Amino acid sequence: METILEMKNISKHFSGVKALDKIQFDLRKGEIHSLLGENGAGKSTMIKILAGIHTPTEGQIFINGKEVKIEKVSDAKELGISVIHQELSLVPYMTVAENIYLGRMPSKKSGFVDDRKLEADAYKVLERLGVQDVIHVNDYPANLTVAQQQMVEIARALSVDSKILIMDEPTASLTERETVQLLEFVQMLKNQGVAIIYISHRMDEVFQISDRITVFRDGQYIATRNIGEVTYDDVIRLMVGREMKDVYPEVNLTKGKELLRVEHLDDGKFLKDISFELHQGEILGFYGLVGSGRTEIMRYLFGVDKGAAYNAWLEGREFKVSNPKEAIEAGIILAPESRKEQGLVLIQDIRFNTVLAILDKLIHGVKTDKKQETEIVEKYMKKMRTKATSAAHITGQLSGGNQQKVVLAKCLATNPKILILDEPTRGIDVGAKFEIYKMITELAEEGVGIIFISSELPEILNLSTRVITMHEGQKTGELAREELSEELVLKYATGGANK
Ligand SMILES: Nc1ncnc2c1ncn2[C@@H]1O[C@H](COP(=O)(O)OP(=O)(O)OP(=O)(O)O)[C@@H](O)[C@H]1O
Ligand SMILES: [Mg+2]
Repeated sequence: METILEMKNISKHFSGVKALDKIQFDLRKGEIHSLLGENGAGKSTMIKILAGIHTPTEGQIFINGKEVKIEKVSDAKELGISVIHQELSLVPYMTVAENIYLGRMPSKKSGFVDDRKLEADAYKVLERLGVQDVIHVNDYPANLTVAQQQMVEIARALSVDSKILIMDEPTASLTERETVQLLEFVQMLKNQGVAIIYISHRMDEVFQISDRITVFRDGQYIATRNIGEVTYDDVIRLMVGREMKDVYPEVNLTKGKELLRVEHLDDGKFLKDISFELHQGEILGFYGLVGSGRTEIMRYLFGVDKGAAYNAWLEGREFKVSNPKEAIEAGIILAPESRKEQGLVLIQDIRFNTVLAILDKLIHGVKTDKKQETEIVEKYMKKMRTKATSAAHITGQLSGGNQQKVVLAKCLATNPKILILDEPTRGIDVGAKFEIYKMITELAEEGVGIIFISSELPEILNLSTRVITMHEGQKTGELAREELSEELVLKYATGGANK
């Protein structure tokens, strides 16, 4: 197969950080080439170089054998490179059609946008993806699910006739079903001759769709292999540079006294009559499709959203908070799913963000206890293997997965009685995932009650001591660890039956 893209000796340094160090990479026409590596390995940095967002410190890029310079985003576009970034980038106040043709809208002789042509063209692109009936050209991104927004981004890439399509963790916030659909699209594009660079921390899908894989570690090129020539364990070893035997820690927990009881939670719109209880030492899994209401329940309990009717008791005492601060004081903390919106102050460093929720505890008189602060910050950086130059690293400049680790550290630092984790391992690499699973089970052993929301079925099945399934705002099932099976959980979560 002919090589369409070649990168030679590419380095990228950010004031002191060698994000990439003389890496190499090549891409063939009509192949899916996955780029793998731990959080902070340099994957997104390489992608941003191809997208014209970063210029390399050194090295050469060739397209169809000819050396090219990609100095700005428009250079990448002209070369037929389209990128779907880790964070979605649709313009919220523009329609689907306008987003697809952003910066290239057809105009009439008068100079005004030719709306009719715009809509017709957009419709044709959506049709090529087979989603014209689900996504309407005049819809706004806010009305679409994350999966649909992603389809719009793919439609944009298709509409410019991309030769190279790059996807940076496209399935990170998709459900299993949406993931299957997306992978089918990717396969279809490949068959149409598009060359695809694919980044994902989900190993199963990497094995399912890749022709080749390339592994980076700490900004360095490690290896390229045909997918047929490597095993799952080989790939993990290449990525983490050490042997990793277990993916899940042993879960052997004893249920203690009741911590939280919630009865008849109803918000009058979507959530209907939700009741559950949580005990010390439990990891209570919440499984359901994205949008099934799991996050909404927790936001009411934590005091982020208001307006739901319910009765709740925390350790036997009536419990209702009017804001997150009160919840934290009562011993409950919520690690939110969307770190960009709710989790971090991105212009501040790791230290600032880690102790953000416990500042008042660290203040003695007028001074903060710097020594204790440092201990806490370093403990969590070490535990989760956060990759950063130091605790003074600005969080906005950390890789996606490392930002997620800081969000978790901030929550754990509050020493909660109840820890609510909403998709805690989204975007986290295999090695660090294990560390996070271990931390969750250790906390449960110490008597913390854990609510664990996840769309990844394997981790729900392996970690939970009990699972509640949700479907369209309702609780559809509750299964003890002994009863757990993939089939049953999926059946209840898709509304197939109630238990
Ligand atoms: N703008 C920036 N300024 C300073 N350092 C940066 C910047 N962007 C990235 N880095 C650093 O470069 C390294 C590589 O980051 P990159 O985002 O490429 O990792 P990644 O492989 O995509 O990780 P993840 O799987 O977590 O998304 C990290 O150490 C990160 O902190
Ligand atoms: Mg990344």
